[in-house]
Amino acid sequence: MTIADLAGTPAPEAASATARVRTPRLRRYAMTAPTFFAVEYAINPWMDTSTPVDAALAVRQWDALRSTYRTLGHTVEMVEPVAGLPDMVYAANGGLVVDGVAVVARFAYPQRAGEAVAYADWMSSRGFTPHATQYVNEGQGDLLVVGPTILAGYGFRTDLRAHAEIAELTGRRVVSLELVDPRFYHLDTALAVLDDSTVAYYPPAFSDDARAQLRRLFPDAVEVSSADAYVLGLNVVSDGKHVLLPANAVGFAEQIGELGFEPIGIDLSELFKGGGSVKCCTLEVYS
Ligand code: ARG
Repeated sequence: MTIADLAGTPAPEAASATARVRTPRLRRYAMTAPTFFAVEYAINPWMDTSTPVDAALAVRQWDALRSTYRTLGHTVEMVEPVAGLPDMVYAANGGLVVDGVAVVARFAYPQRAGEAVAYADWMSSRGFTPHATQYVNEGQGDLLVVGPTILAGYGFRTDLRAHAEIAELTGRRVVSLELVDPRFYHLDTALAVLDDSTVAYYPPAFSDDARAQLRRLFPDAVEVSSADAYVLGLNVVSDGKHVLLPANAVGFAEQIGELGFEPIGIDLSELFKGGGSVKCCTLEVYS
């Protein structure tokens, strides 16, 4: 409430899309330590098996992300990493847990298939029944919850036919969005959920039809530059106020700062070599 409201006069600035007060909501996340992280195979254009990875630095950077969540008051649960599954640190891909319904991933590449077993075990250990899909779904890499809706990517990993399975299992509306640029192979590399009705995205990553849908659903969405998209700047986690994002996505940080969000830059340079960043490392439990 502003002084103008108290005085009974309309506050003209309240209607504008400029900075407003953002309210964080406490969240429940699951993360998997990068104990066995490596770039041993290349299944996306960011991965180069000849680039050295500093495994100890990867762990320290990941640890800083986890500490930041905890400092903000969020709950972070640990999933036990498994030797021989170097991409398991990208916990977002493990599945989708929403309204008490758990859907475990079915991975597109055989190198990651074993992760589904580990994430199903984790779900069971937390009291959820892991449901499988018949078609490929890479969990929250491609399935992003925005308020009551699930935005679902397809084109590279998650199969369009899995979207109907997700709608059936969760009872939620699923909006299918086609991805067209292999650099943005998961929806969470091309679109960021900032709160229950606000998203940001990189238009060139989407088909014409997907762009039209996004414009219709989110007329006030933030559109990011190539510079920010190419450092995986959209791979963020927001609690509705604090937005944890790759530290080098400086233009995007400024854009969201102007909208009243609080950007918090995180350096995940080592995990970037696997083609992931903040969001990829974080599975949110929407229960
Ligand atoms: N190397 C992993 C893969 O290509 C990275 C996954 C990143 N995760 C994400 N949610 N975008 O599958």
